[in-house]
Amino acid sequence: MLMHRPLDTSRADLHVDAVAPLDESPLRMGSRTLPTRYFLAPLAGYTHLAFRRVIRKLGGLGLATTDLVQATLLLSGHPKSRELIETSPDDNPLSVQIFSGIPRDLIGAARWLEDQGYQGIDINMGCPMAKVNGSGGGARLMCDTGGACGIVESAVQAVSVPVTVKMRLGWDRENITAPALAREFEQLGVAAITIHGRTRQQGFRGEADLLGIRDVVEAVDKLPIIGNGDVRTAEDALAMRRLTGCPAVAIGRGALLDPWIFSRLHDHAQGRPMQDPSPDHQIQFLIDHFTFMSEQHAERSCQLFRKFAAWYGQKLGIPDDLEDRLRRFESLDEFLEIIDQIRARHGERQATVPTALLKVPNGPVEKW
Ligand SMILES: Cc1cc2nc3c(=O)[nH]c(=O)nc-3n(C[C@H](O)[C@H](O)[C@H](O)COP(=O)(O)O)c2cc1C
Repeated sequence: MLMHRPLDTSRADLHVDAVAPLDESPLRMGSRTLPTRYFLAPLAGYTHLAFRRVIRKLGGLGLATTDLVQATLLLSGHPKSRELIETSPDDNPLSVQIFSGIPRDLIGAARWLEDQGYQGIDINMGCPMAKVNGSGGGARLMCDTGGACGIVESAVQAVSVPVTVKMRLGWDRENITAPALAREFEQLGVAAITIHGRTRQQGFRGEADLLGIRDVVEAVDKLPIIGNGDVRTAEDALAMRRLTGCPAVAIGRGALLDPWIFSRLHDHAQGRPMQDPSPDHQIQFLIDHFTFMSEQHAERSCQLFRKFAAWYGQKLGIPDDLEDRLRRFESLDEFLEIIDQIRARHGERQATVPTALLKVPNGPVEKW
């Protein structure tokens, strides 16, 4: 079971100034200025348009990125890839994340996205999945420093919008290539790098290595390094910034567990007490998410919404039996009936661990 331990701010090896104020001014990323320093990390299957819109509505989100999109399929007009990049005027600022082991396709997709009006391209160099690595994409690129630099250089030269990279610390403990790659990428003109503080070999096991992230921050000159991994609370995000020196943080699973994490960080940045949502706001959040999903996916929205229930249930005080129904509902009427019951029985929950945390993949990464 994956339990959450708060990030350890007392580690003697980290020399943290716990009181110095953090810079919360808008972050410059190439030609873009991002309103806050707390970003949504891409989570394939979750961070689609509806989720991004409903999170943005709560406030405080600085940047969102689409799920990873296979460049070749995107260029060929594959319907699923095109669906992954669907956006709306309120879905802004947004970057599109692409991956490929074929440089020509990656560059072609970046150009095509710029032509379509997208304002940021993120290259995936962190995905550990065998089917992505097998074709030379994702974290596999971190093993070939020359190849990775070649692709990044071509992408930066091919488009005028900012190009960013998301990567891990390296392939495994013996091959920590992130600091050297980050230094090279800065010279090549990338606008920012997100570092997930694990190796590819770790998959999602163990804890994010904050010292590893700090090594990358220290390896670059001025390039913004976005820290990522295991941030579950607003306090974790602040601790990550203090411990690593990274100017911004990307939050993935923590946003599914607590969609208000960005608004709370924004409260903090503005010098306000961090606000907890009322039960009415929590229920409205569920309705808004489902509404946005229905606008995009019509009859598929029930099926697509169900998997969020296991993440939301604990934070939103959804009684266990109603969470279970939310994981199986089949129609709008049934959704509304469950919502009425959640409203009447809000907070009557027994389970203290979010159901989703019992199910995170834990086996050998090769088997995913
Ligand atoms: C279900 C799932 C899907 C993911 N999909 C992507 C993806 O499409 N692109 C990517 O760069 N990272 C992806 N990641 C990695 C996350 O962006 C992030 O780096 C990782 O989960 C650690 O951050 P967190 O602890 O805040 O979730 C995914 C992670 C999970 C759990």
